[in-house]
Amino acid sequence: MSDPLAALQREHLQHLERYYAETLAALGYDGVLIYSGRPTLHFGDDQYASFCSYGHFQHWTGQSGLAHSWLLVQPGQPTRCFFHAPDDFWHLPPQLPDQAWTEHLEVAVVRDATPPRLGAGRFAVIGDVDRATAQALGVHAPGVECNPADLLAALDEGRLRKSAYEIACLNEANRMAMLGHRAAHEAFLAGGSELDIQLAYLQASRQRESELPYGNIVGIGPHAAVLHYQHYDSEPPRSRPSLLVDAGHRFRGYCADITRTWPGTDTDPLFADLIAGMHDIKQRLVAAVAPGIEFVALHERMHHLLGELLVASELVTGSAEMAVESGITRAFCPHGLGHLLGLQVHDVAGRQARDGTVLPPPAQYPALRLTRELETGMTVTIEPGLYVIPMLLEPLKASPVGREVNWTLVERLAPHGGIRSEDNVAVTSDSARNLTADFE
Ligand code: GLY
Ligand code: MN
Ligand code: MN
Repeated sequence: MSDPLAALQREHLQHLERYYAETLAALGYDGVLIYSGRPTLHFGDDQYASFCSYGHFQHWTGQSGLAHSWLLVQPGQPTRCFFHAPDDFWHLPPQLPDQAWTEHLEVAVVRDATPPRLGAGRFAVIGDVDRATAQALGVHAPGVECNPADLLAALDEGRLRKSAYEIACLNEANRMAMLGHRAAHEAFLAGGSELDIQLAYLQASRQRESELPYGNIVGIGPHAAVLHYQHYDSEPPRSRPSLLVDAGHRFRGYCADITRTWPGTDTDPLFADLIAGMHDIKQRLVAAVAPGIEFVALHERMHHLLGELLVASELVTGSAEMAVESGITRAFCPHGLGHLLGLQVHDVAGRQARDGTVLPPPAQYPALRLTRELETGMTVTIEPGLYVIPMLLEPLKASPVGREVNWTLVERLAPHGGIRSEDNVAVTSDSARNLTADFE
């Protein structure tokens, strides 16, 4: 085994075995069968949509594109993986990677997708299956429970605190993503279109589009104000005042989610100053990440810092407090400060308490995806933003508090779209480690 991460992966798997054993025992299950999932066909067509394996399957294997496979976890017995590699002359069958999990687990490379027979006892099956599908796929166990909520909440909770192996994978995903970001910036400076920039990113980060953890956001000018802008213009625009790239990478299932905003050729100095201001806000928020910090409080701190920046830049008159309390900062930044990051870009368990009960976001911040206290091992994004989004600013302009905003400056900013600065941060035992800054 030539895998440098082998020892860490073995520790990760030993931890998973203990966690599953405790969880299954506590909830009264003898075992759980995890389905990796299967790609779906476009309606009325013979072409498949892109596919991503179920997160809990990836937690053991890191295989993000392996369909029709099963994992049987039965405490007291070796965990068994049924790795689907059919005889197929149309496609290249999946191959076992050179990684420690293939030796640590009991792996059977199987030609058909039939699940293993479950013995006597109480079993759950989890993944993209309901009872009828499970039976159709061949899960023959009379009392089998599909996706029971208490088990899913507990297993989601088990993905919250990352092992050293998982942090190493996230760090590597960051390294690769930052190669892409550098190339994207160069392609922009060279006059490339959004599509050219996206292709430069993919080439430098060595990945195909369907393997990305999410659709890369590549917005020049006003497109930078569309939070999840999904197109890539193939023609370079005449005016290039800014570029926002929110783009990631997946390494053994683990996702990077990084955003950078750069000035362009026709950039207003006010916008360039705001990029520097937002970078500074991100650095201060990253420095505040530590175990015991409430993420909602950190999100509120982002709004306060944003209020201070808006006042210092003369975009807003009055005080930072007023800008936050009146909703001005929310009109400039409608998304959350960040979210959990792991095998999913918006990772599971962000809005649940340790006991699985729901922790909803505050009413004024409905988009906030992480509402819990930070704990050692969590990995989060820190991504403050500032945008000119007409749909949000027009009602503000029409409201009484609109008098506090310098709309002439807002109009100067509008062609630049917006700014987001996003890093990936692991909570350590006493503070935090910025996984992105290693590759800046
Ligand atoms: N890339 C999506 C996000 O930042 O949450
Ligand atoms: Mn992002
Ligand atoms: Mn993000």
